[in-house]
Amino acid sequence: MDWVYIEDIKRFAGKEVEIKGWVYNKRSSGGIRFLLIRDGTGIIQGVATEKDTTHESFSMIDDLKREASIIVRGLVREDSRSPIGFELTVKSIEVIQNQKDYPITPKSHGVDFLLQNRHLWIRSKLQWAVLRVRAEIIRAVENYLWDKGFLKLDAPIFTPSACEGTTTLFSADYFGEKAYLSQSGQLYNEATCMAFGRVYCFGPSLRAEKSKTRRHLTEFWQVEPEMAYAYLEDAIKLAEGMVEYTVHRVLANRKRELDVLERDTNLLSSISAPFPRIRYEEAVKRVNELGELMKLGEDFGAPQETVLAESYDSPFMITHFPEDIKAFYMKKDLSTSGRTLSFDLLAPEGYGEIIGGGEREFDVGELKKNIEKRNLPMEAFKWYLDLREYGSVPHAGFGLGIERIVAWICGVKHIRETIPFPRMLGRIYP
Ligand code: 4AD
Ligand code: MG
Repeated sequence: MDWVYIEDIKRFAGKEVEIKGWVYNKRSSGGIRFLLIRDGTGIIQGVATEKDTTHESFSMIDDLKREASIIVRGLVREDSRSPIGFELTVKSIEVIQNQKDYPITPKSHGVDFLLQNRHLWIRSKLQWAVLRVRAEIIRAVENYLWDKGFLKLDAPIFTPSACEGTTTLFSADYFGEKAYLSQSGQLYNEATCMAFGRVYCFGPSLRAEKSKTRRHLTEFWQVEPEMAYAYLEDAIKLAEGMVEYTVHRVLANRKRELDVLERDTNLLSSISAPFPRIRYEEAVKRVNELGELMKLGEDFGAPQETVLAESYDSPFMITHFPEDIKAFYMKKDLSTSGRTLSFDLLAPEGYGEIIGGGEREFDVGELKKNIEKRNLPMEAFKWYLDLREYGSVPHAGFGLGIERIVAWICGVKHIRETIPFPRMLGRIYP
């Protein structure tokens, strides 16, 4: 008998198959036992009766706990009432393990309890759907970049210097030397793009974010492309194309999961690049008009980002941020004093920033001034300054926060559900 995965079940209609999985839920009605069986790729309803099921298997069903591991053999039947279109007439059940009462029950639990049991919570249907979308997004983004000729080159996690400012640095003892955990692979991408032209890295970014928000993790994953001989406009176009492609790929390949999440996909389906753009000043003005007060020169906080992002139906961009609220590597905008050639791409429906990027300063003198102005240790950046001494060229890139785009596409409110094991202020278990 063939062992099949539930996601492939339609190829086995009318056949006897074996499903290896776990008890997701069960109920009984008169002489019938309904078993929801999950195998990681989906959930199928098994129907057991005294007539179709062996006596031994049938009598054991009442003792099965949720999440007991079982191998079920049965006949695949088409059934239009099933969410997947098929059910299983259960012939026999082999129990692999059936021991303790499963702590997560169908009743609602508090989020602290669920996070404490994250290693089990990921088996639940909604979490399963979100993490399947996450995997699809990662694949889409990487496919997009490969198709555009980008080479994937990994950046280190242990680093001697800060990329995104010193306030969120995690440090580590590196054989007696002080090391920092990477906040972004960007600086290393700038080196590899001068060696390979178009590159990207994909890995964890670590930041000691000390405030609790629904948008911040201390460990999140970024996809960061970087291009030599490129300008702000090139980075913006790449970001737009990537987001457009990714959204439509998920709609095409993960419809089942978005249905489970009850995601309203109307706005997602209509996404099409280019996206609207506003400059920083205009964005500040609109935020004030929307009732969240802020001054020119300040960065957008969570409430400001939310109201602005609620006022859009499509992803949009804010460009030309002030120097003082951006990192040392940002290229100055020579046409507007105090502004940089930078952009953020924000997701609509209140989600906010999912991408940050721009053009990099490629003049060694300007870069040194920026490093000094921010009191960063020049020594640690010696290698980075070398990039401006040997064949320096205009270059640009950006970072896409995977958890942020997953939250938006799935329509989940809090970023903690978009990664298998979230790391946040006050949480490192499990
Ligand atoms: O805007 P950020 O800080 O930009 C950089 O790190 C650049 N060095 C990237 C580059 O140009 N190569 O971060 C980029 C993205 C944000 O837009 C956001 O999506 C995500 O990373 N991000 C976070 N996601 C979750 N939790 C956090 N604490 C995040 N901080 C940033
Ligand atoms: Mg940013």
